[in-house]
Amino acid sequence: MEEDHSLDCHSIEKKAREKADVLDGYITPSLGHLGLSPVALDVPIIDLSRLNGDDPSRRAIVINDIRNACRRFGFFQIVNHGIPQEILDAVLSSAFKLFELSTEEKMKFSSTDVHKPVRYGTTLMLKDGVDRIPFWRSFFKHYSYPLNDWIQMWPTNPPDYRENMGKYVFEVRKLALELMGAITESLGLGKNYMRNKMEDGMHVIAINWYPSFPQPCQMLGLPEHSDYSCLTILLQSARGLEIFDAEDKSWKIVPEVQGALQVNVGDHLEVLSNGIYKSVIHRATLNAEKPRISIASLHSLGMDEKMKTAKELVNEDHPERYKESSFNDFLNYLSNNDIAEGKLSFINALRI
Ligand code: OGA
Ligand code: NI
Repeated sequence: MEEDHSLDCHSIEKKAREKADVLDGYITPSLGHLGLSPVALDVPIIDLSRLNGDDPSRRAIVINDIRNACRRFGFFQIVNHGIPQEILDAVLSSAFKLFELSTEEKMKFSSTDVHKPVRYGTTLMLKDGVDRIPFWRSFFKHYSYPLNDWIQMWPTNPPDYRENMGKYVFEVRKLALELMGAITESLGLGKNYMRNKMEDGMHVIAINWYPSFPQPCQMLGLPEHSDYSCLTILLQSARGLEIFDAEDKSWKIVPEVQGALQVNVGDHLEVLSNGIYKSVIHRATLNAEKPRISIASLHSLGMDEKMKTAKELVNEDHPERYKESSFNDFLNYLSNNDIAEGKLSFINALRI
């Protein structure tokens, strides 16, 4: 029998490795392993109920855990985050129904213009000549804050979409501001350091839909990347997110924890922290049994507000390492660069 090496996990991995070496240093390690049996991440799970109790020493412990997680992984999971399970279940249910709409209805939102406040798209990259791992996802993205400015542009179908997404957006935004306060506190900047700018900031919701795929090791949902945001909060319907452990040079699957949300350090937080915290490189794998949905909530500063490195974190030993940039700068970068998505690296463009 003819063996088709192009469909074998090991050879895909090997070719990807060879190819990655000639692409660029940044993605070299990240293509190394493709989901054979990824190691489960001994992931920091942070209990946020202790953040605002009466006891300041308990808050200090949480802040310390956040600092360690951001330094080590640029990633952590959160539990007792305050968003009721009914709201999470409802928004996931509306999201599934959204992708079950007819192609015609979804295509009404289709656009390749990254500046559009609401858009739908599908990326299906088949294996090309450079042996990149193919990937497949569909997405809706929409601006979400201030809610009243944008909700009128959101899909009206399914009929409960706006209500369920609206409730989630309200809650997740509150949570993001809270987390951002804890993160700036963990950097020694105090919890109100970015408060006003985050309150006026952009909030983008990206709903990703991934098909089930019988050989998950042969196709990805979303290739490796870091998020441009300050902070991303992810809600997933099933396991599938993997993060790259830069210390260990390996991919780690994020274990499923009931009711938990995932938090990514984004590029703009790396800039703010002068590289003390690194944006996490992550990717989405496919599930053999069922389609998967994830809802990424991306929080950043205002459209034209520049994110700069905190001057408190710059000194002789630690000179400024990044150029300032805004959300709009990122969008322009995105539209001017080849988004063979895996190569996309806004943060590399910002390095001094
Ligand atoms: C993203 C993202 C991961 C996932 O939307 O930026 O990384 O699991 N999603 O869908
Ligand atoms: Ni992401």
